[in-house]
Formats: sequence, structure tokens, C-alpha cells
Amino acid sequence: MARLIIDGGKPLEGTVQISGAKNSALAIIVAAALATEGESVLENIPHDGDVGTICLILRSLGVEVWFDRKGHLHVNGRTLSKHQAPYHLVRKMRASFYTAGLLLARLGRAEVPLPGGCAIGSRPVDYHIRGFTQMGADIVIEHGFMKAKCDRLKGTQLYINRSSVGTTVNLMIAASLSEGVTTLENAAKEPEVVDLAIFLNGMGAKIRGAGTDVIRIEGVDTLRGIEYTIIPDRIEAGTFMCAAAITGGNVLLKNVVPEHLRAPIIKLEEAGVIVEKGATELRVIAPPRLQPIEVETTPYPGFPTDLQQPFVACMSIADGTSVIRETIFDRFRYVDELRRMGADIKTERETAIIRGVAKLTGAPVEVTDLRAGAALAIAALAAEGRTELYGVEIIDRGYECFEGKLRGLGADVVREETMEGIDLFTAESPLKA
Ligand code: EPZ
Repeated sequence: MARLIIDGGKPLEGTVQISGAKNSALAIIVAAALATEGESVLENIPHDGDVGTICLILRSLGVEVWFDRKGHLHVNGRTLSKHQAPYHLVRKMRASFYTAGLLLARLGRAEVPLPGGCAIGSRPVDYHIRGFTQMGADIVIEHGFMKAKCDRLKGTQLYINRSSVGTTVNLMIAASLSEGVTTLENAAKEPEVVDLAIFLNGMGAKIRGAGTDVIRIEGVDTLRGIEYTIIPDRIEAGTFMCAAAITGGNVLLKNVVPEHLRAPIIKLEEAGVIVEKGATELRVIAPPRLQPIEVETTPYPGFPTDLQQPFVACMSIADGTSVIRETIFDRFRYVDELRRMGADIKTERETAIIRGVAKLTGAPVEVTDLRAGAALAIAALAAEGRTELYGVEIIDRGYECFEGKLRGLGADVVREETMEGIDLFTAESPLKA
């Protein structure tokens, strides 16, 4: 176990390089294993915990996956041979359910543990399962696993109940090698979905309409590995924009797609932040004090649920009352931790009402989920005094070199290993005589 010790109060200044998009990488790494000819070489893959987990899952299925010295990820799906994904890895991350689409498309058989609830509420996979069933898979849920079989998936017209990134990704992966044409209606329009479509088309897939709410996938017989560069992570970028804004800083973000950040940029501008846009960079200049805003999270191109938490942190010291509505997940549990730092936040069902206070004060706090962890860290950067942030491994799941990048901008952050979780009976135990 580790914690971050953050001494707040320093405006962030300097330049930060944004990594590749975690959620794009997870989809593309799995999709790369659809190929039976050649390997894919993936660039700009973030070196974070979730990427590590998906690579281990693919390896357990027989796929060759390895990082070269340049940090590029090689994926060779030719050796994919096992159809059962291991629970001890899948349980760590919902995106591992993408292996269901891969296994059905490649082997006609998949046994994948159902992801349970998680710290951001119930996260069912019923849309994914309905899609596979409509494509001809026989599915039973047994012993915590989705067990599915099919000869070859058949293209069909699928309506997704609610815009869902995971369902769109999983069904695109499955449909790429299916027989005939699959149409996904009410598909997710997130940049990560578009990135996946561009990658799959490069491999030889026939996908049209990604980025709109109707995606048409004409199944092909085989796909081949390619070289591909993943898009920059818009959520990491938005998090660093908030870190600059909350600390009164002036930060240049490099390796970003400003277009992917339109809604968060508009909201930051409403809050008084100056955002200068270049082709692949953004400069963020904070005002003397942030102004309150109203935000509602909605599917892309709306305001992303993954930036709700850093924005709540920013608004906790704004000059007035902000209202933030979360419509995608149950994602306000971390607010209790912000309150421990002096924030004045009331939550009622989907809505948080944040009365800006003059200052936050450092406190020991616990990371409840990935984005909440980032939000607590940036609150700590602005707080008076010291914050101890426990459960930092959760932040490591989705941010490459998080505290290193913050330190590069002048933040006073160090990581400390804690004693918790130590096995008292091993030879290394500090309590052993
Ligand atoms: C993806 O999750 C992201 N994860 C999430 O990022 C992100 O918050 C979310 O999309 C929304 O943008 C990855 O890409 C790996 P959904 P996903 O399916 O695909 C409901 C992070 O921190 N739903 O778009 O799981 C669901 O409950 C993570 O990086 C069903 O009811 O989200 C939610 O209310 C967290 N049944 C809504 O749809 C289903 O079968 C949208 O969820 C599927 C979804």
C-alpha cells in the first residue's frame, strides 16, 4: 500500500506531457488480438495499472503481448487459444469484459466473469449480453461467469438502450469478424470509440459511422496486425487543466486534442479560466479566484462523467455556489473525503450543490475510485497544509506517472509506502524478530 503526501498551496507552473488514452488503449489492445496475421505495434500506450491488467488477461488467453524498449506494445493474436478469462484479473477492471467480444469472434466460445458492482455503483453488462445474443450466441450465466457459444456471429441490427461506451466497443470488436452487416443504433460517440474504429479499419475491418450514433460494421473473414498510435487521454488532460485552475497556476499541456475537450474547456472558461488553444497543446491560466458554474455529465460530446470529480474539487473553492449533476454513474461517494478537507458540499441523489469556501485544509483522505483519487489530489494541491492520500494504487490504475507529472509542475508531492497490508508472517515483516 502507498500514500501520497501532498503539501498544498503552490501554483502549478510549467509543461506537462499528456499520455495516451487509457480507455482507448484498453479497447484497442483487446481488438489487436482479433488479428490472425502479423502483430500490432501500439504507440502512445499509457503505462498504467489497467493497461498492465488487460495485457496479463490477454496473455492468460494465449495472446503474445510485450512492451519493447521504446515503450511500444506488441500484440500478436495468432496464438489466442483459451476461452476462459481468469476471475482474479477480470475482477480488477470492467473493461476486461471486452475479451467476451474478442473470444466469441475468434473462438466462438467465451467464459468471462461478470463484473460486479464497483465503487461507482452498479455497472451491469446486460446491453453487451443482449447484443451477443441477438448476434446468435447461446449464453448462460453460471457460477458468476457469462458462458457463451456460437458458430460464427451473425450481423444484425442492434439498438443499444442507452449510449454505452463499453457496449459499443464490445459489439464492434465482435462484429468485425462476424458474418454479414451489424448496425449499432444509439451507439456511443466518444473519441475512444472513433479511435477503435480507425484502428480496426486499419486492420482490414469495414466500419462506417463511428462518431455518430449509427455505426455500420460489415464483417470480414480475417484481420491483420498494424502499427497504430493511440489518441491522447482527454480525461488526464482535463484533470491537469483542473489542477492548474484550482492552484492559481499557469500550465502548458502537450499531446492533447483540444476538440475532444470542448465541453470541459467551455466550463473552465465560464469559471474564469483562460484556455489558449493550439493544434496539439493547451495553455491553462487560472484567474485570481474561480467562479461558480453549473454542469451536467452526459455522453460525448457532453461533459464527461470522468471529469465531474476534478470539477467538484475546483468548485469547492469557487466564489459562490455551483451545481453539478451526475447522470451516468453513482459517483459522489468521494465527496465525504472532500468535506473532511473543509469543502461545503451537499449531495442529493444525482446533484451536488457546492458552496465555495475560502480555503480547503489538508487532511488524511482515502481514495474511493480512480477519478475521485485524482480529484482529492488536486484539492490537496490547493489546500492549506498537508494531505495524506491513502489508496494511491487506485490512481495508478489510470494515470501514468501521476505524482511525477505533478512534481514536474512544481507540486510538493511524495509517495510513501505504508505498513498496511504487510504480511506479518513473512521474513521481510518489520515485526518479525
Ligand atoms: C466507460 O465505461 C469508461 N470506461 C468509463 O471510464 C466512463 O466513465 C464511461 O464509459 C462513461 O463515459 C472505459 O472505457 C474502460 P458505459 P463503461 O457503458 O463503458 C449503463 C474511468 O474512470 N449500462 O458508457 O462501463 C451504465 O450503468 C472509467 O476511466 C447499462 O445499464 O460505461 C451507465 O449508467 C470509469 N448496461 C451507462 O450505461 C450495460 O450493459 C453508460 O455506461 C452497459 C452500460
